[in-house]
Amino acid sequence: MIRRILFRYVLPLVAAIALVAFVAVPYIDRVFSGWFRSDVELRSRLVMTSVEDPLADLLQNTELNRARAYLDRVAGDERLLGIVVCGRLGEKLIQTALVPSIVGCSATELPATGSHSVAQASFGPIEISRFPLATSSGTQYQVLFVHDLSYIGRRQTAARSVLLAFVVFAAAILAILGGLGVRLLLNRWIRLLLGDIRSRRFLDDAESSRSSAPVLMRVREVLREMEVNQRQEIEFRENWTPQALQQVVREHLDGCKMLVVSNREPYIHNLGEDGRPVVQVPASGMVTAIEPIMRACSGTWIAHGSGAADRMVVDRFDRVQVPPEDPSYALRRVWLSPEEEEGYYYGFSNEGLWPLCHLAYVRPAFRESDWQQYVAVNSRFAEVVNREMGGTESVILSQDFHFALLPKLIRDRGVKATIALFWHIPWPNAETFGVCPWKSELLLHLLRADILGFHTIYHCQNFLATVDRFVECQIDHERMTVTHQGHVCRVTAYPISIEWPPRWLAHTSAVEAARATIRSRHQIGPNVRLGLGVERWDFTKGIVERLHALECLFEKNPEWIGRLTLLQIAAPSRSKLPAYQALQQHTLAEVGRVNARFGTPAWQPIVLIGEHQEPAQVFELYRAADFCLVNSLHDGMNLVAKEFVSARDDEDGVLILSTFAGASRELPEALLVNPFDVTETAAAIVAAIEMPREERRKRMQLMRRTVAENNVYRWAGRMLMDVARIRQRQSLAPWNAP
Ligand code: G6P
Repeated sequence: MIRRILFRYVLPLVAAIALVAFVAVPYIDRVFSGWFRSDVELRSRLVMTSVEDPLADLLQNTELNRARAYLDRVAGDERLLGIVVCGRLGEKLIQTALVPSIVGCSATELPATGSHSVAQASFGPIEISRFPLATSSGTQYQVLFVHDLSYIGRRQTAARSVLLAFVVFAAAILAILGGLGVRLLLNRWIRLLLGDIRSRRFLDDAESSRSSAPVLMRVREVLREMEVNQRQEIEFRENWTPQALQQVVREHLDGCKMLVVSNREPYIHNLGEDGRPVVQVPASGMVTAIEPIMRACSGTWIAHGSGAADRMVVDRFDRVQVPPEDPSYALRRVWLSPEEEEGYYYGFSNEGLWPLCHLAYVRPAFRESDWQQYVAVNSRFAEVVNREMGGTESVILSQDFHFALLPKLIRDRGVKATIALFWHIPWPNAETFGVCPWKSELLLHLLRADILGFHTIYHCQNFLATVDRFVECQIDHERMTVTHQGHVCRVTAYPISIEWPPRWLAHTSAVEAARATIRSRHQIGPNVRLGLGVERWDFTKGIVERLHALECLFEKNPEWIGRLTLLQIAAPSRSKLPAYQALQQHTLAEVGRVNARFGTPAWQPIVLIGEHQEPAQVFELYRAADFCLVNSLHDGMNLVAKEFVSARDDEDGVLILSTFAGASRELPEALLVNPFDVTETAAAIVAAIEMPREERRKRMQLMRRTVAENNVYRWAGRMLMDVARIRQRQSLAPWNAP
């Protein structure tokens, strides 16, 4: 405490006083005395000018007494002590009353003509100014004006005291401000300059052995507090809307171009029956989530142009404005050759990484040629990103396992970008990932992102463990960061979601009408309970296990035979691949078998629609169903579960959800099942169809509240705020200790 007072207040005060005493005061003395003397000299000259003629006349007429009287009057000025008139021979002709005795007319006593000299009288310093005076007859005289300079000393003392008092006062104020205000000013300055951001490197350095610097520690503390506050603001903000997201972009990412990169495009143009392009929204959780974000924030979405009519609608830069009904962002299409698509998409992405990351027990296939195409296509997309950036600072939101190499490939082009990559599928444990022959390349490329996002903390931890196993780097488990070759990559869980309220809801009919329509369309009687499954025809979704669960249900609960139907929408997906073809055949066979075993001419236990359905149709199905079955064997999040909840504004309907889908972490009010346990799934279906209305309502209410609050705008808002924070950190100069 004493030391603090000494350093903060006493020392600055003493230093200020010493500065004043030894530097400022002598300097000011010199300046003041110069001013006052030149003032005196000027006055002498003025007085001489005014007395010159009358005095010359009086001297001409040798009227010495009158001349003395005249000069006595002139010398009445308080500072003009006296006037002396010297004769030609150096004699004193006239001398007014107060002239000190040391002023004489001899050659040694006189200053040079027209000049001034200072002498020391008994009472203090005097200045003697000498001017020549000639009468009309040509007689030469010397006129001496004697000024008292002691007032200069008095004035200097007074000025010195005032100055000293002022400096002491100012130093005291500054010391107080310094002590009390600097931290506030610093905080404010940081807030103004950096927003809420602390410099990664700055702080990383500070956290090293040099962190004992108290100011630095304080800065770090303040920045942390601000970051926590901001995160809390986001966490507790209940009403996340497109407008709220736009505000985040405006306030925190101002001037930044936003680029999304994904394989699947949000709108596919295919050829209609009349040969004209028709637009389709693909079945993709990634598209479901990202599309509303782009609608809210604008920018450019770069994706593979995979539709048969895609080329027909683009401009000469391969761009088309979407959504078609109300364009708000640009879709930039990238064309892939059949070989590229084969190796990069079907091969490495879907036969390699997809089964590798999903524990669905389909063996991943890794082929060198696929890997080469994967590298080549990632490079092509990096080049397109570079071109689309056009030299401007950008935020790049890269999507999914198709573009694991993109972060490094983009950085290698030396662009100024903040890169976030969101991995929409699970991340397996280190051992499983270790079977990939190009694991190190994948990890090293991914780690060049600023942010790597996963749906759950569990996937983040799997990723960190994998990096720990295969890459030499620093991992901070508390902050979930990986530092590799000086680059910090933040690994964070951002549970993805859907827009709220979903836009498709506005176009669907009331629940009762939807029930009637769907039932009549698929010949399902009014007394039959309707279960719904909606997904891509993918082996991770547990479609066959679902059929087996239904079979088990009828075996164990024959009273439900004829009274329960499962309507299964399976959108064909990646159908070129043997695993998917096999799944389709297997599914068809199992549907046939179960229907044959339990079906009657008037009733089918399973209705399979093996076709893509547009979102509005899917929403109608959600509203028509008594329960929705989401029993994925493994799923990053699963947005069908959240969409079903969002479609049920009647607060009815039951969700049966796999514990291996990320969504189960957020929706514990669903009936959670192990999809590999068909008996348990069967029991859950029975529980769903027998559940009283009140319980259905309560469960649905809770789930709807969760999805409404944790909607996709919140997901994007959290990620973009982290992007903004990183950008601002990057804009700081690195701190290097001396
Ligand atoms: C998953 C992936 C998405 C992908 C979607 C559909 O949800 O995470 O990136 O778009 O499947 O797969 P597809 O191969 O048809 O794009």
